[in-house]
Amino acid sequence: EKGGWPSFMAKEVAEEPEAVANTIRGRVRDGAVVIPELDGLDDLFTGINRIIITACGTASYAGLVGKYALEHWARIPVDVELAHEFRYRDPVIGADTLVVSISQSGETMDTLMAVKYARERGARTLSICNTQGATIPRESDAVVYTHAGPEVAVASTKAFVAQITALLLLGLHVGRVRGSLEDGAASVAELEALPAKLAHVLESEQGHVAQLAGWMADTRSVLFLGRHVGYPIALEGALKLKEISYIHAEGFAAGELKHGPIALIEPGQPVFVIVPSPRHSALIHAKVVSNIQEIRARGARVIVVAEEGDAAVLPFADEVIRIPLAGAFFEPILAVIPLQIFAMALATAKGLDVDQPRNLAKSVTVE
Ligand code: F6R
Repeated sequence: EKGGWPSFMAKEVAEEPEAVANTIRGRVRDGAVVIPELDGLDDLFTGINRIIITACGTASYAGLVGKYALEHWARIPVDVELAHEFRYRDPVIGADTLVVSISQSGETMDTLMAVKYARERGARTLSICNTQGATIPRESDAVVYTHAGPEVAVASTKAFVAQITALLLLGLHVGRVRGSLEDGAASVAELEALPAKLAHVLESEQGHVAQLAGWMADTRSVLFLGRHVGYPIALEGALKLKEISYIHAEGFAAGELKHGPIALIEPGQPVFVIVPSPRHSALIHAKVVSNIQEIRARGARVIVVAEEGDAAVLPFADEVIRIPLAGAFFEPILAVIPLQIFAMALATAKGLDVDQPRNLAKSVTVE
């Protein structure tokens, strides 16, 4: 039931702090991440030399955030592949490969086929899934459940933040098991601080973002730029907008701008830019600020998602959406919320059914 919310999507976005908290619960012991479902399965992580993350759609973007975190913490090569591409291109995999699948439903046929294919070729398999006892976890050697609760709206929201949370937990778990994790306690503290920060973003930016969407109801195209873990968030922001508001949208890695997409910028073009914190890397931050300058000089209407206190973006931004300070790999969970709200508010402003977008099904059980 919607419980007083205008849509399931609105309810599910509001449940994100809880989805993240529930996914973390029971997986931190003495200041370290210990995932009980993975007890006795250390060999899954020590007996391999690479990880392939496979998923579709929104889940694949969570996977991309996971790649950055896993490589950083666990020092193991990670590739992310769309399940339908992976399965049909004769990939090089074997016993030295761990294939991590991500699926909210656990029934996505493309992802299921990729998992079966990996198993047949001797790879180990671990699934991240939101639905207890679904087919994909049953076909995998191990499972780490996300505890987002049932997601009814077709567009994935709380499941996405729970997927990133599970991947961060996995990264910290694998990093510890492989002995490569430094300063794990600080990351655990970041994890545990996330639910309150999510609640803060929901409270402080909801009205502002909805207002923005109202102004932009006639917009025909929106671009999203991000760098580092902001890149998958740009992709996700664009997908949400396409899915439920039927507006053309594209997400880019900010560094790609000058390799083509900047030609799209004309006066009035709305562009969301996810700005990474300067505290993590002054260099990455400076590069994104310089991208903002470049598109602003060409007349783009720039909507920035930036950390509280980041004043460098102010001279070039038409709108600033603020997120609380968080560790580098934790920021994307906060940065995606305004983009989800934006898509939802814009669809609502256009009079569309946000829960049941045309042509889409919640669970894609055909290849
Ligand atoms: C987007 C969306 C889809 C799913 C994709 C995978 O909002 O919901 O892109 O993320 O179809 O679904 P699952 O996670 O169930 O495998």
